[in-house]
Amino acid sequence: MRDGSSPVSDRPRVLPPNDPRQYDDLADEWWRPDGAFAMLHWLARARAALVPPATRPDALLVDLGCGAGLLAPHLAGKGYRHVGVDLTRSALAQAAAHGVTPVNGDATAVPLADGCADVVAAGELLEHVPDWRAAVAQACRLLRPGGLLVLDTLNDTVLSRLVAVEIGERLPTVPRGIHDPRLFVDDRELIAECARHGVELRVRGVRPELGGTLRWLVRRLRAARRPPVGGGLSPSGGREPRIRPTWSTAVLYQGRGVRRG
Ligand SMILES: C[S@@+](CC[C@H](N)C(=O)[O-])C[C@H]1O[C@@H](n2cnc3c(N)ncnc32)[C@H](O)[C@@H]1O
Repeated sequence: MRDGSSPVSDRPRVLPPNDPRQYDDLADEWWRPDGAFAMLHWLARARAALVPPATRPDALLVDLGCGAGLLAPHLAGKGYRHVGVDLTRSALAQAAAHGVTPVNGDATAVPLADGCADVVAAGELLEHVPDWRAAVAQACRLLRPGGLLVLDTLNDTVLSRLVAVEIGERLPTVPRGIHDPRLFVDDRELIAECARHGVELRVRGVRPELGGTLRWLVRRLRAARRPPVGGGLSPSGGREPRIRPTWSTAVLYQGRGVRRG
């Protein structure tokens, strides 16, 4: 106790798995390329690569669970107005600073009109939403006929729990406790749910490239052992690892589908 009246601790608070308040506690990490959300940067690049340039003026991309807007730099020049929906206000403030129009709300009840979006993105969102089917229904509802859904998420498999939680959350690429594996999303169920809402989703497995990720981890661990120099240089100092297609959807997968007319 500092003043004899209230207990004070410098230890970070421990929150339940997938508690959205974790994103407030980690707010300073979003835009650090080598920070706790590093892998989200790699995934954002890969997700943006699925989005073609806009085909009409005023085209709208709705980014569900946009976080701090990591997708924004990768969409630059593609011609979309980028609206981001998220529960976490501290993340939305950062998204707004990167050109995203912020909407504070739940992906399962989005306060935007039916058919308003040319593209809906849902990157690393569904595995955090207790009712992911409701979020999918919203994503499909927001799409205009011919509009494009792009997403990535974690599969509901034993391998995914092992790789993304038991291993991933012990590495510096993923914050510990950010996932609740009970919420992971079976790819076949996701395809069926999208089809029910008029979107033919195709999925493919993806993973970070192995060599680049190992090099990144070594640089990251070395930098963590060195005392900061000159205010703290970026430890990565090199190219960020790329996300590559892989033959299995058992862990991480991307989905892409067009809304029927
Ligand atoms: C893993 S982060 C991904 C952020 C961003 N899509 C990216 O890839 O950088 C998950 C984000 O989803 C948000 N989120 C979780 N549940 C949500 C919900 N039901 N509605 C809206 N946002 C939600 C969190 O606040 C967080 O910003």
